[in-house]
Amino acid sequence: MEVSPFPYQGPLEPAEVHGRDGLVADLTKRITARRVTALLGPRRYGKTSVLHRVAADLSEVTTVWVDLYEVTSMADVAVRFDDALAATTGRFAAAAGGVAAGVSVNLGVVKVDLTGPARNRPDPALAFHSLLEVLVATAGREPTLLVVDEFSSIGRVKGAAGALRTALQHHYTDLGIVFAGSHPSMMRTLFSARPEPFYGQADLVEIGPLGTAAVESIVRTGFSSTGRDADHVAGQIHAFSGGHPQRTMQLADACWRHTPPGQTASTETWASALTEVRRASGDGMERLYSGFEGGERSVLRAVARGGSIYGAEAGLLDLSAGAATHARQALLNGGDLAEVAGQLTVVDPVLADWLRRRFPI
Ligand SMILES: Nc1ncnc2c1ncn2[C@@H]1O[C@H](COP(=O)(O)OP(=O)(O)OP(=O)(O)O)[C@@H](O)[C@H]1O
Ligand SMILES: [Mg+2]
Repeated sequence: MEVSPFPYQGPLEPAEVHGRDGLVADLTKRITARRVTALLGPRRYGKTSVLHRVAADLSEVTTVWVDLYEVTSMADVAVRFDDALAATTGRFAAAAGGVAAGVSVNLGVVKVDLTGPARNRPDPALAFHSLLEVLVATAGREPTLLVVDEFSSIGRVKGAAGALRTALQHHYTDLGIVFAGSHPSMMRTLFSARPEPFYGQADLVEIGPLGTAAVESIVRTGFSSTGRDADHVAGQIHAFSGGHPQRTMQLADACWRHTPPGQTASTETWASALTEVRRASGDGMERLYSGFEGGERSVLRAVARGGSIYGAEAGLLDLSAGAATHARQALLNGGDLAEVAGQLTVVDPVLADWLRRRFPI
């Protein structure tokens, strides 16, 4: 079977990342200049993909890639750093192995130690500390980029951000450091709230939606490289997705699958693709929606319709001003709503579409 030129599940390979040249160049410059950077944006906006690309472009540099997705404990955090260090290769790995032996750490087996018989288990905080020592000492010898993806989860583990800050703070000029995370408001808090260990410690860089020209080029190239013509469908995809990267690719994939090789996409192609994506996501949207609280549901409905969450329109949904304010903040914190130029929008265009079709008001 032909492989779709529009993958939409999971992060992209470096060579698949298009339409992000400005951001890639900006991040590369910051890393090279040793400016600690935090990349923030909503879910599925391509944060991990763009960092894959940046890391691949910095071919002389070893990337230590730490994924903190849903960490819940210090042991969890230590194991993620251990996995990241153990996954390195070449000169960095050799140097790290040497440093680790000096501090009695066996890279790659911290998990075994931390999950072994209770009486032999090392203190996870100490294990984390040793791993950070290995990281910074090795970074002093070999060109290194530290990527901490899903950094916002660290907020759940007491003392973890503090330990990381303490270990890194005197080494900001020794290595490139990028933190990335969804939940934009949580990320902002981690770097801009006074009590937080990383307060004022990083430049915040936002990843936005893909622009019209980028979507146009991604869709056209994907079609033409597989012997098809996208015709006007790229414009229709952008008009619907607003440049949301993952939804853009999902819709492009559906359009592509509805266009046989050698053919040109048409208005019917777009209609069939949209129907298919709506059908495929319907149950998921229903479940997602039922997970929101009452006030949040009403706010999502009002915003999806482009209406106000206060006043007469909100009154139609029995939404009080207090409940609207509370729900608005919760949805912004969760990354389900975004505020662009003072205007609230539902981040996921498929959810917005589902809300508009599912509810008459
Ligand atoms: N530059 C891009 N061009 C086209 N599509 C992209 C691009 N970047 C990301 N995508 C689409 O978005 C999807 C998600 O990308 P990725 O996993 O990098 O996002 P993320 O922001 O890290 O998501 P998460 O919040 O789940 O960690 C990819 O599978 C792809 O379909
Ligand atoms: Mg990601």
